Amino acid sequence: MTNILTWYGHATLGLETGGYHLLIDPFFEGNPAAQGDPNTVKADYILVSHGHGDHIGDAEKIARRTGATIITVNEIAVWFRSKGFEKVHGQHIGGGFRHPFGYLKLTLALHGSVLPDGSCGGNPCGFLLTTNDGKKIYTAQDTGLFGDMRLIGEEGLDVAVVPIGDNYTMGPDDALRAVRLLEPRQVVPIHYNTWDLIKQDPQAWAAQVEWKTGSTVSVLKPGESLEF
Ligand code: NI
Ligand code: MN
Repeated sequence: MTNILTWYGHATLGLETGGYHLLIDPFFEGNPAAQGDPNTVKADYILVSHGHGDHIGDAEKIARRTGATIITVNEIAVWFRSKGFEKVHGQHIGGGFRHPFGYLKLTLALHGSVLPDGSCGGNPCGFLLTTNDGKKIYTAQDTGLFGDMRLIGEEGLDVAVVPIGDNYTMGPDDALRAVRLLEPRQVVPIHYNTWDLIKQDPQAWAAQVEWKTGSTVSVLKPGESLEF
């Protein structure tokens, strides 16, 4: 079985695993870095890490078109249900559930989570997925560095996806420290170069990481994929 991770730009990820299409933090419209079309992108499941507009983005629109199940923290799950969505699965940090596509656990994230309409989105999260063929992928989404990344690393990660943009999330230096704690086989940087405020040089970061850790860095261009 092949797992295909696609970076659509910013923090928007697609994961194809065992024939299922997962879409994480879909933000296409209004995203200057986006590659991909919210009107055609496939989704069986939409994962939302927190309430900020650059993550909840087009989730509503894509869920209506595709009928995808939305998976998110319970507060945001309740918010989606109040908008009439029925295929919504609320989880929370530290809690895992065996979905048809694999075992998904929500992880700690140090960030905020107010929804675009001002509603409280509860606590933000990251995602740790064990696929049905036993691969482990951790997507940190928006977070600062935290020491318990070491505990996530103990799971034995095939892939880690980490923000490097700085200002709103970890910057390059803390993202390097994150890689040291996570010890993934491969790492993919996200949440940079969408706007000038989070401008970074991913190749320079990749060189540092590969010099100072045992991880391999895959710097994707928006729209590109990584197989694992
Ligand atoms: Ni955010
Ligand atoms: Mn963000």
